[in-house]
Amino acid sequence: MIFEKSRQLYERACQTTPGGIHSNVRANWQPHPMFYDHGKGSRVWDADGNEFIDYVLGRGPLLLGHSPAPVIEAVKKQLDRGLLYAGQSDVEVEAAERFCKLVPCADMVRFACSGSEAVHGAIRLARGITGRPKILRFEGHYHGWYDNIAWNYAPPLEKAGPREWPIPQPASKGQSASDGFNLVIRPFNDLDLVKAAFEQDPGQIAGVICEAIMCNTGAILPKPGFLEGLRELCTKNEALLIFDEVITGFRVALGGAQEYTGVTPDVAVFAKGMSSGFPVSAIAGKREYMQAFGDLSITHAGTYNAGPPVMAATVATLDVLAAGGGALLKAAIKRGERLMAGIAEAGRRAGKKICVRGIGTAFHVSFNETTEVVDYRSYLTRDAAAYGRFWAALQERGIRAIPGGLWFVSTAHTDEDIDQTIAAAGEAMKAV
Ligand SMILES: Cc1ncc(COP(=O)(O)O)c(C=O)c1O
Repeated sequence: MIFEKSRQLYERACQTTPGGIHSNVRANWQPHPMFYDHGKGSRVWDADGNEFIDYVLGRGPLLLGHSPAPVIEAVKKQLDRGLLYAGQSDVEVEAAERFCKLVPCADMVRFACSGSEAVHGAIRLARGITGRPKILRFEGHYHGWYDNIAWNYAPPLEKAGPREWPIPQPASKGQSASDGFNLVIRPFNDLDLVKAAFEQDPGQIAGVICEAIMCNTGAILPKPGFLEGLRELCTKNEALLIFDEVITGFRVALGGAQEYTGVTPDVAVFAKGMSSGFPVSAIAGKREYMQAFGDLSITHAGTYNAGPPVMAATVATLDVLAAGGGALLKAAIKRGERLMAGIAEAGRRAGKKICVRGIGTAFHVSFNETTEVVDYRSYLTRDAAAYGRFWAALQERGIRAIPGGLWFVSTAHTDEDIDQTIAAAGEAMKAV
C-alpha cells in the first residue's frame, strides 16, 4: 500500500505540531502516524485513498460506525438552533433521562467533555464524600492522562516493584511525586491483596477505581467473584467503588460492564460509545453522592459541558442503541464473537499460540505461550513483535486495527466485513 500523501501531511504537520499528532497515543503507528480523509459506516479512507475496514473506530467512540445518519441529522438540526448558552437547554435533560434509564448505578449524571476529565471528577467526588486522601487503583488499568491517576498504567517491570504491592510510577515526566503518595496500587484480579490494602491503611482509602473489564490492557475479564468482592470490601470500609466505563459503557451491554457483570458501583464514568464521536463524557452515580455536586460542596465545572450539539448527538446515539431492547448492539456483539472465533481459528491453523479474549465489541488479540492472562504482568508475556507483524500485514490488506492488539466492532460492521477480515487474518498469519 502507498502512504505518500499521509507521509507528506505528516512531515508538514511536524513543523507546527509536536510529533505531528495531537494525542501521544497516536504516535505508535507504522510506518508513521497516518492521515485520514473520510469515513462511512464500518469503513475509513486515508489521505491516499486507501480503503480500510475500521476496527479502531476512533479508539472506541464510533460504536455506531462512522457518521451514523440519525446522529448527524440530530446534530445538524441543533447547529441551527444554538451552540452554547452557559445556561441549560431541554436537550441536556433529554440526554440525562435516557442515560439514567440505561445505566444501573446512575440515579443522576453530570456531563463533561473527556474521559480523563470525568475520572478526575469521580476521584474528587470519592475524596470529598469520604474525607479520605487515598485512591486504590490497579496496575495496567488506564484512567486517562491527568496527574493524580496516570500512574502504573504501563510501568517498566524493573521499576514497578513487587507484584503484591507495586511502587507508584508516574506515566510521564512532570507529574508531582505527591500525587503518587495518595495512590495504592494493586494487581487486578487478586482480592486478598485489596483486602490487605484496606487493612494496612484503615480509614484512608476514599475509593477503588477500576476498568471492570480491563480493556486497555488485554481485554482481561474479572475473575468470578472479584468485582463482587470489591463491592463488599468498599461497602464494609465505607469507600466508593468507581467503575471506569469509558470503554465498556454502552459497548459490552447497554448498561455497560455493570450490567454485564451484575455488580453496581457507587459511581461510574463514561465517554466513548455514548455520542458517536462527539466529545461527551459523564460522571454518574448514586443520588446520595451525586447530590454533592448539586449542593455545590464539591466543584465540578466546565465551559463546554453539555453543549447542545453534543447533547443532541448523545440523545440520538442512545436512542439508536436502546431501540428494540438493544437489538443492534446484541447483533454487533454476536458478529464480533464470530470475528474473535475466526481470528483464533486462523491462528491455530497457522500453528500459532494465539490468545483472543474479551467481548465481541471489544476484544484483544495476542500471541502468547500462556493463556492464563489475568493481570498486567501476565499480559506482558505476549509476543508484542509477532503481533506487530500481524498488524502490519493486516493494514496492507485493508484491515485497520489498533497496534496494541485491542479491536473494536461497531453496529455498522456487516457479515461481509467479518468474512473479509477473517480471510485477511488467515493470510496475515504468514507474516507472524
Ligand atoms: C478506560 C479509560 N478511561 C479513561 C480514558 C481517558 O479518556 P479521554 O481520552 O477521553 O480523556 C480512556 C481513554 O482511552 C479509557 O480507555
